[in-house]
Amino acid sequence: MINYMNTYILAIESSCDDTSAAVLHDNKLLSNVISNQSVHAQYGGVVPELASRAHQQNIIPVVHAALAQANIKKEQLSAMAFTRGPGLLGSLLVGVSFAKSFAYALNIPLIEVDHLQAHILSHFIDRGLPMPQFPFLCLCVSGGHTQIVKVNDYFDMQLIGNTIDDAAGEAFDKVAKILDLPYPGGPVVDKLAKEGNADAFSFSQANIAGYDYSFSGLKTSFLYFLRDRLKENPNFAQDNKNDLCASIQKAIVNSLMAKLIKASNDLGINEIAIAGGVSANSHLQQTLKELAEKHSWNIYIPSLQLSTDNAAMIGIVGYLKYINQQFSNISAVPYTQSLM
Ligand code: KG4
Ligand code: ZN
Repeated sequence: MINYMNTYILAIESSCDDTSAAVLHDNKLLSNVISNQSVHAQYGGVVPELASRAHQQNIIPVVHAALAQANIKKEQLSAMAFTRGPGLLGSLLVGVSFAKSFAYALNIPLIEVDHLQAHILSHFIDRGLPMPQFPFLCLCVSGGHTQIVKVNDYFDMQLIGNTIDDAAGEAFDKVAKILDLPYPGGPVVDKLAKEGNADAFSFSQANIAGYDYSFSGLKTSFLYFLRDRLKENPNFAQDNKNDLCASIQKAIVNSLMAKLIKASNDLGINEIAIAGGVSANSHLQQTLKELAEKHSWNIYIPSLQLSTDNAAMIGIVGYLKYINQQFSNISAVPYTQSLM
């Protein structure tokens, strides 16, 4: 049960290509400012060096905007929360260094946050909606991760399924690249798929044991299918873009859901949450709602703002750690790989 303590937490997130700052009053969100880095679009993916440089330029204006929107002076802050990892080293270093100096200057506690825990715990931001009951299963799907996590308590999480190669978001992004669509590909594929027939084409799906995932075979099957069709009709991709997007999206979502259903049945858990950038996918959300009806699941879907990378999710973990007095110190350094 959450204790309310009248805390104001400033949180920052800089693990990949979004610079974000948020202010929370206890578990309520006062502001969540996100600056996307458009510089990567022309390269079809995140360029780490450019990401660090853009974070360096954005971090101070983004923090100012978050404090101003929350109508909070920095002297009112109770603690400073930051993403310690996983992510890109140069990007993380900007946030970690900023957080340390800011906390040191204000003489407030520093709280380190794991990015993946934050995606999952974003469901505990008070949105006036029901929150998951422990234990629950969380499908955490982003550009870097595809995991099923059993969440026993706020900081007691068990990784039960993982991708053995590409992440689901990566699959969306790679398919989009093959189709010459802009980066990030997920939102574009989602939009075009709405006008397409999801049963137009079928692609072979991986058959991996347990709760693990694999998406590299699906991507290759898509690539070869397109290559063969393009030999017959050079306009095939252009003429069938919507159907291709709808069909590959269906394959990705079916694969994600199959393991989630298996985990729910095997573990007898019907509290099901989704998190991460791919959880914004409209077909994934629709399928989850249908499954919830069929299997009597209670489902938890983040708002669009809370699904992709944001500092609000770092702030809620900051708050949960603050009430347990779990503070970090000035020697904290970033980590790049998942700890789960
Ligand atoms: O969580 P996130 O913002 O960053 C990481 O931690 O990776 O996730 C970004 C990923 C990208 O691969 C992007 O294409 C995907 O989420 N994504 C989507 C949608 N919106 C974002 N994928 C499918 N459908 C969407 N609507
Ligand atoms: Zn993320």
